Amino acid sequence: MFETESDVLEWYENQPRAISKEFLDSIPWDEVRDHPLNPAFQPVLVYMRDVESFTEIYYEELLRTPTGKNPVIRKFMDRWSGEENQHGDLLNRFLNEAGYPTSECWMQEAKAAIPFRYTFENRLYPLITNCFGKSFSGAHMVWGAINEMTTLQGYRRLWTLADHPVLEKLLRAIAQEEAIHSHFYWSIARLKLEQSGFTRNLSRFIIGKFWTPVGQGTKPQQETDYVISTLFKGEEGVEFFDRNVNQRLEQLPGFDGLGRVTQRIARIAL
Ligand SMILES: [Fe+2]
Ligand SMILES: [Fe+2]
Repeated sequence: MFETESDVLEWYENQPRAISKEFLDSIPWDEVRDHPLNPAFQPVLVYMRDVESFTEIYYEELLRTPTGKNPVIRKFMDRWSGEENQHGDLLNRFLNEAGYPTSECWMQEAKAAIPFRYTFENRLYPLITNCFGKSFSGAHMVWGAINEMTTLQGYRRLWTLADHPVLEKLLRAIAQEEAIHSHFYWSIARLKLEQSGFTRNLSRFIIGKFWTPVGQGTKPQQETDYVISTLFKGEEGVEFFDRNVNQRLEQLPGFDGLGRVTQRIARIAL
């Protein structure tokens, strides 16, 4: 249990990268085609690749709010956004090696496809969050924790369901980094929520009312729904999600009994 935000940052900075130079050199790209990949997972990989690369948009949004001006969060985000970007690149490489060629400008094209509504709302968003000042940072951190936990569990499901050894090797390393990101967000969120009843109430209200799955808004709803229903299908998938994401969320101060995240997933997956 960390006592200060600086302790959380120090812990993060001491975590070695799972995606090191040695790891990158050890990926057997030439073996990707030796194993079949069920085509149902191709759109899932594209979605995950794009959402990873959209991290920098989210990062820029946060920089315009009090959250981005917090020096601990700022230092974390500088390294974090680079890691997410690299995850996107690795997934893109995998798609190509697996026989799904992608455009040279995939990143620009994915960004260009973000609906105007999202871009427009995000111009307004820092204005709204700035009204609440630092109290909004709790909600940002909880939101980030949920997204990281969802991403991590999504990768775990994907490597289990796809049963492709090279993909599994890749996703296990990415997932290790997602677990570190989750722990950072979750730990900062806990500290912020413990400090103030107003932050607890505001954060619970924001998540309970507005939380949507990672990527939704930047990606069309059908694509988000496809990914969720492919990865967390049926009672078993929803139960897996609830145990690993929602129950962990509920351990945060003020979040007891908030079932929104699982409910949102269940609506699509059941
Ligand atoms: Fe990532
Ligand atoms: Fe992450």
